Amino acid sequence: MKDENFLKERNARSIWHPMAHPADSQKNLPEIIVAGDGVTITDVDGHKTVDGVGGLWNVNLGFSCQPVKDAIAAQLDRLPYYSIFRGTTNDAVIELGEMLAEFFAPDGLERAFYTSGGSDSVEIALRLARQYHKLRGEAGRVKYLSLKKGYHGTHTLGASVNGNANFRTQYEPLMPGCYHIPAPYTYRNPFNETDPEKLAQLCLAALEDEIKFQGAETIAAMIMEPILGAGGVIVPHESFMPGVRAICDKYGILLIADEVITAFGRTGAWSGSRLWGVQPDMMTTAKAITNGYFPFGAVMISGRVAEVFESDTTGKAAIGSGYTYSGHPVGAAAAIACLKETQALNVKDNAAARGAQLYEGLLDLQKKHEIVGDVRGGRGLMCALELVSDRATKAPIDKASIAKVHRGAYETGAMVRISGNNVILSPSLIVTEENIATILGALDAGLSAV
Ligand SMILES: Cc1ncc(COP(=O)(O)O)c(C=O)c1O
Repeated sequence: MKDENFLKERNARSIWHPMAHPADSQKNLPEIIVAGDGVTITDVDGHKTVDGVGGLWNVNLGFSCQPVKDAIAAQLDRLPYYSIFRGTTNDAVIELGEMLAEFFAPDGLERAFYTSGGSDSVEIALRLARQYHKLRGEAGRVKYLSLKKGYHGTHTLGASVNGNANFRTQYEPLMPGCYHIPAPYTYRNPFNETDPEKLAQLCLAALEDEIKFQGAETIAAMIMEPILGAGGVIVPHESFMPGVRAICDKYGILLIADEVITAFGRTGAWSGSRLWGVQPDMMTTAKAITNGYFPFGAVMISGRVAEVFESDTTGKAAIGSGYTYSGHPVGAAAAIACLKETQALNVKDNAAARGAQLYEGLLDLQKKHEIVGDVRGGRGLMCALELVSDRATKAPIDKASIAKVHRGAYETGAMVRISGNNVILSPSLIVTEENIATILGALDAGLSAV
């Protein structure tokens, strides 16, 4: 292996990184990860850390899942690729489709449309929502609603419904007809409401108000994450998503649950929608569907929506969307193996138990470190610390300090993720009690460095 500085210098010379300023990633060289084993990663120096991020919220089963590797190798040997565009299919996607329909049956979802990742899934779901209304004779329903702070990937439709200006401003004008509702974000919200239940009601009232203002007959769908992930792990009050479902039903608006992060056990339930007792009209998935072992995704479609498409006799229900890698057989084989392993290990229960340990530990760190303004989580293995320079004013901490937290944690034994002034934790769902203790200890060291 080439030495570290050589590789870092070449990285800076040849690569632009997503979600990073190109000049910044040339100055502040990224860690070069060269190996993964269980939930531990090793960098080019040989330094080992527990991965507190789980790849990018996706490596739920860790880095050494042999059944997934074997399934990929076997599929590559047998059939590395065949398209599932009209007229052909492959056996791997058929088996996976049946498994997904069974897995998501309690969510009322019956059909799968395959994609190559989360942004693709969002794009497809938003398109299908418009087509659904056209098929039903309501062609005027073209607008989309979403939550501020929500993250829905980086394709243009997804960026248009995104609720974070960082992913929007430089690419405007985005799609017209996308409107954003305040998120149930207790720490900061325009209502200055600190009670989660009251805040949920205020946000629901804002949603209904926007629908009335736009005219329900112009709105195709509401897209939301059951727990907002990239926006800083915003866990709404349990009344929120059922409230959104009720409002969508009242006004004939489709509800798309964006479960690119939350599906497959991360929240301590098999889906985020199920956590809140809601059945969405469509669900976007990706990430843990293949655990990072292969790029893949699926939009799950409810029986009610499927019926409208499948009963069409005009030809207008033909789906004019798809990717060369929709239904890639190697991805499907990986997903089959992941789903089997996910269920065999019952990872959702470990996510709930270890998530509780992590959340409690973070609350203890908040007592110790003045810079921890808010701790969010408590529903499975997705938590965030929001760092501030002053608890009274909630002024976000500066970039240099947050970089110190990251570095301190990394050097002490855990990779954590920095997003704005948030420290995000989303380890693999197979972490042990000891792994969580390591993450908390490392974070304690990182916070002490500021
Ligand atoms: C909720 C949500 N939707 C969509 C996406 C986009 O997925 P991808 O990065 O696979 O395109 C993400 C990625 O983090 C996500 O968290």
